[in-house]
Amino acid sequence: DIVIIDDLSNSSLIVLDGIKNILKKTIPFFKIDLKNKKDLRDFFKKNIDIKGVIHFAASKSVGESVLKPLEYYENNLTSLINLLQLLPYNGNDFPFIFSSSCTVYGQAESLPIMENAPIKPAQSPYGNTKQIGEEILLDLSKSKENLKVVSLRYFNPIGAHPSLQIGELPIGKPQNLVPFITQTAAGLHNKLSVFGNDYPTKDGTCIRDYIHIVDLAKAHAKGLNYLINKKNKNNFEVFNLGSGTGNSVMEVIKTFEKVSGKPLNYQFSKRRKGDIVSAFASTFKANKILGWKTTLSLEDALSSAWRWQKKNSKI
Ligand code: UD1
Repeated sequence: DIVIIDDLSNSSLIVLDGIKNILKKTIPFFKIDLKNKKDLRDFFKKNIDIKGVIHFAASKSVGESVLKPLEYYENNLTSLINLLQLLPYNGNDFPFIFSSSCTVYGQAESLPIMENAPIKPAQSPYGNTKQIGEEILLDLSKSKENLKVVSLRYFNPIGAHPSLQIGELPIGKPQNLVPFITQTAAGLHNKLSVFGNDYPTKDGTCIRDYIHIVDLAKAHAKGLNYLINKKNKNNFEVFNLGSGTGNSVMEVIKTFEKVSGKPLNYQFSKRRKGDIVSAFASTFKANKILGWKTTLSLEDALSSAWRWQKKNSKI
């Protein structure tokens, strides 16, 4: 049984209806800002039987974090610290799943990226909050024996739930590739700018590891099961969540055109500051230890993203 806590700062209550329609049951919801220690303490006092946490809540826009670093440090780190201070550990093992990011690797020296690749200095305050978050969890897992942590380093999650009940709802102009593509195809933008076509890649555009959001979600359940049944002493584990395949921006555009049947208006523009050339995951560790791998393709993900966009744009 699960409960959801969210401050609704970057989400909407209608998401709960979508979840209810998928699960055919109502999930208890609490509107709480994790920065508010008093509210969080009251929540845990009333819900002492919470047995584990999946901590997704954080701000995640790279560009915004550069403009508002303090807001990012405050939101992403205070909320994590408050949560860790107030969790009802009760002396039992407490599983904790953390949403991290492949951004912690920066431009890795070798590909695919393994979990033991060096952590590079963060390129943005957002990326730094993920690095610091992992450090906080590592330190705490050493001092608090019953805290069991899995940190999941997401590559590029895209797509929507196939029921189209829930999906990505970017506020304002999207910064990420796939919502910009679907919004452009829906007529909300004139054209997509492809940031750079002079990279040292097969077609000159950057390479990323795009992963269907449903595959990504399932890895969290695997992570929780892993922590619940865990036999070894290692209280802090990181896993890459990617498909293991790198696709260029042009490949994403071409695949989108194929699954949507719509030509996309795009133009090449200059490189975006801070972009890395290429990143894709080694999925070996997640396969082996979590028993997880992706089952859905780039086509599946882009098709669901497009159907979700059409539903929202009433096309
Ligand atoms: C970024 C962050 C990542 C974060 C994710 C979700 C870095 C290195 N990565 O991923 O940590 O979790 O956003 O917020 O900071 N592109 C275009 N035109 C567009 C938009 C994007 O060409 O209009 C290109 C980008 O140059 C990039 C690729 O598409 O090559 C993917 O970009 P994006 O969706 O923004 O994700 P990342 O930058 O990989």
